[in-house]
Amino acid sequence: MIHSPIFFTILVLLFHFQHSLSFSLSVERHENDFIVSPKGTFTAGFYPVGENAYSFAIWFTQKHKNLTNATVVWMANREQPVNGKRSTLSLLNTGNLILTDAGQFNVWSTNTYSLKQLELVLYDTGNLILREHNTNGFILWQSFDFPTDTLLPDQSFTRYMNLVSSKRDTTNYSSSCYKLFFDNDNLLRLLYDGPGDSSVYWPDPLFLDWQDSRSMYNHNRVATLNRLGNFSSSDNFTFITSDYGTVLQRRLTLDFDGNVRVYSRKQGQEKWLVSGQFVQQPCQIHGICGPNSTCSYGPIKGRKCSCLPGYSIINNQDWSQGCKPSFQFSCNNKTEYRFKFLPRVKFNSYNYGFHKNYTYKQCKHICLQMCECIAFQFRYIKKKGVNNCYPKTQLLNGLRSTEFKGSLFLKLPKNNIVLTPEYDNLVCSRNNGIKQLQRLYVGEKENGLVNFMLMFASGLGGIEVLCFFLVGCILFKNRKQSSVDNHGYVIASATGFRKFSYSELKKATKGFSQEIGRGAGGTVYKGILSDDRVVAIKRLHDTNQGDSEFLAEVSIIGRLNHMNLIGMWGYCAEGKHKLLVYEYMENGTLADNLSSNELDWGKRYGIAIGTAKCLAYLHEECLEWILHCDIKPQNILVDSDYRPKVADFGLSKLLNRNEHDNSNFSRIRGTRGYMAPEWVFNMQITSKVDVYSYGVVVLEMITGKSPTTGIQIKDKEELYHERLVTWVREKRRKVLEVACWVEEIVDPALGSNYDAKRMETLANVALDCVQEDKDVRPTMSQVVERLS
Ligand SMILES: *[C@@H]1O[C@H](CO)[C@@H](O)[C@H](O)[C@H]1NC(C)=O
Ligand SMILES: *[C@@H]1O[C@H](CO)[C@@H](O)[C@H](O)[C@H]1NC(C)=O
Ligand SMILES: *[C@@H]1O[C@H](CO)[C@@H](O)[C@H](O)[C@H]1NC(C)=O
Ligand SMILES: *[C@@H]1O[C@H](CO)[C@@H](O)[C@H](O)[C@H]1NC(C)=O
Ligand SMILES: *[C@@H]1O[C@H](CO)[C@@H](O)[C@H](O)[C@H]1NC(C)=O
Ligand SMILES: *[C@@H]1O[C@H](CO)[C@@H](O)[C@H](O)[C@H]1NC(C)=O
Ligand SMILES: *[C@@H]1O[C@H](CO)[C@@H](O)[C@H](O)[C@H]1NC(C)=O
Ligand SMILES: *[C@@H]1O[C@H](CO)[C@@H](O)[C@H](O)[C@H]1NC(C)=O
Repeated sequence: MIHSPIFFTILVLLFHFQHSLSFSLSVERHENDFIVSPKGTFTAGFYPVGENAYSFAIWFTQKHKNLTNATVVWMANREQPVNGKRSTLSLLNTGNLILTDAGQFNVWSTNTYSLKQLELVLYDTGNLILREHNTNGFILWQSFDFPTDTLLPDQSFTRYMNLVSSKRDTTNYSSSCYKLFFDNDNLLRLLYDGPGDSSVYWPDPLFLDWQDSRSMYNHNRVATLNRLGNFSSSDNFTFITSDYGTVLQRRLTLDFDGNVRVYSRKQGQEKWLVSGQFVQQPCQIHGICGPNSTCSYGPIKGRKCSCLPGYSIINNQDWSQGCKPSFQFSCNNKTEYRFKFLPRVKFNSYNYGFHKNYTYKQCKHICLQMCECIAFQFRYIKKKGVNNCYPKTQLLNGLRSTEFKGSLFLKLPKNNIVLTPEYDNLVCSRNNGIKQLQRLYVGEKENGLVNFMLMFASGLGGIEVLCFFLVGCILFKNRKQSSVDNHGYVIASATGFRKFSYSELKKATKGFSQEIGRGAGGTVYKGILSDDRVVAIKRLHDTNQGDSEFLAEVSIIGRLNHMNLIGMWGYCAEGKHKLLVYEYMENGTLADNLSSNELDWGKRYGIAIGTAKCLAYLHEECLEWILHCDIKPQNILVDSDYRPKVADFGLSKLLNRNEHDNSNFSRIRGTRGYMAPEWVFNMQITSKVDVYSYGVVVLEMITGKSPTTGIQIKDKEELYHERLVTWVREKRRKVLEVACWVEEIVDPALGSNYDAKRMETLANVALDCVQEDKDVRPTMSQVVERLS
């Protein structure tokens, strides 16, 4: 493996005369000149960071000799790599440890001084220590005091330190724009410190600090990650990894994309898995999508940037540079402007003033008057019943999200024709990894320019990275690598999401004694976890064939997050035992509640909207069609406030937006009565199948009649059954002349306690959803819009 490394300790004897140098490691011998920690966990030495470029670094010891992909945890000279010739790390007999580039330039030093006998020791914690050589030797310098972008277990992060992200994942280690530090108010924060602007993005600046349970009233600033996976800081911020409790190799890294992730792996394994991250919504990280662009995020596709309409990208290798207008702004009175409406778009940058209770017209007027105004944010404040107006002179940190209620009105010249927005047009070319670096050397042999060809390397822990941009966008690839590895001990990202052991869940359910439901592919039991949380545990039947179903549920739901989606807290996979742990819903399913007449009109309407929002989120915001395929009242749970929570993704399958491949759906999915005609006629399956099922569910809520049994009709003494959908449709057709046709279909249990106008809207929306022709059906977000 490693040839003749200099083991563990370099003992340095003090020379009394002549030689100023007492010891050195040489870059030319970098394949042999290593310092290895006693148990071999860490290695320190010259690490190649480009062609003929090296940095003195500490990394997790690799099994194989090729260092290309080693996990570097510390670097002496990340900004200034040294030449592959005649560069050395030397301990001078004055006690100073210095790094010399090409035999001449002092690139880095510890600035220590001692005339005692010193030693340089690499511990198994990853700490490189320069200390006096005697028992309880005085420590002159240690690498733990100067972290780069990584914190190791038991390394204290204090007021004197920063973690600063690297430019890119593995090809350029020099520092970039993200910083983790203790602010002057003693709070741990993440800062984007870009070339043009700088802003704190974590904790969310919109929250007050105490809302985040942070404590400003403390007198110290220190944070540590312990070996079990608990990161806690003196400001009361605690972060428990999803695999907390196990002794694993761990590291906390401020990644090049501005998120802090805790990685873990079993000793001897190569691949790191993400066991938690600080920022859950990646678009909250500032500076990713530069000025005049918006960021959107989907759990599967990851984060994407797009230019505003009328704007074009500045550097398509680097979204952080943003977009520039493809037209000329001019401040004469000749140019006429119009405003383009961009719903659910928000820019987290400085507002040029704030105007309370302004109409759209007033706000528009202000923006037209002001030459610098390039857009305005317009937001309805429900609590006060007023609209607020925020003119903008710069558009930074843009976000597109269905969660955001306000809209942006973008100022564009009237004559501007080309308005195709530059959406997500990332070209994933591997060539992006190659970059030429030029650096001037005045070395003895190498005069002039030396080119470093950077090698492409990748690997971001457990997440497979499809393509890199300099600090730009990453697309996370999901699929069968899925975040559940074969040993299944960690799931990427989602915090609080963990693996349970079978015995733990058996105990929680008292031996699977209390059955609360049976759904697709499994039986659901009530359970109480050791921390007293009440959960619903779904035990999958038929686990031999259920593997794909199981993995689909775990990897999809584990990352989805919506207030109308049932929360998943973990899973268990031990041989044939496959279980899913969900939050428990006291009030049962929509089906139970409908049959027991629990739901008044307001609750039903709320459930209709909430369910629509959840489906809109799944279909659209996830940027990839996530189809549920089995929407029915049994799969919609109701929480204590009668808010809906969509459950059971056992049948869902991912469909690529561009690839309508029916072969993904070999089996008919869904439940009779709620199934769209496409299933029956073997037609293309799209998100409109969920729209159809949703329409049926809404009709069921309105009428109180189940679509599975049909409506019994007595016509000319003849009894027959009619489909619910047909029945309602006929009612509308026949009774349309009458003032309010919905009276004819409304669930008698509601009496007259409902809002007839809204009921009619709801019924019309539902009938549109159940159109036979899928192309005529609205999308789920159109449904949300019509109902809100
Ligand atoms: C290390 O691996 C990379 C590709 O993974 C290869 O290009 C390089 O030549 C290898 N280096 C050595 C010293 O074998
Ligand atoms: C890394 O990026 C910085 C800033 O762009 C640049 O100055 C430096 O030369 C790069 N280093 C390498 C090794 O590519
Ligand atoms: C620390 O956080 C917990 C919850 O995480 C909260 O209950 C507690 O009040 C916080 N303490 C302080 C001093 O803010
Ligand atoms: C994590 O560490 C903090 C500080 O030491 C402690 O208060 C907290 O209880 C720990 N959490 C767990 C789950 O061990
Ligand atoms: C963003 O757009 C504004 C106005 O259209 C323009 O002044 C500014 O230069 C743009 N930003 C960049 C980085 O091009
Ligand atoms: C544009 O019109 C406004 C009023 O309509 C006037 O106050 C302003 O001076 C005009 N600006 C120019 C450059 O003509
Ligand atoms: C908003 O403005 C309108 C008139 O411009 C006024 O009638 C209304 O009372 C205002 N509302 C609030 C909450 O200030
Ligand atoms: C480095 O990682 C990349 C991507 O994970 C892989 O293709 C390559 O073979 C690895 N190189 C070495 C030397 O392990």
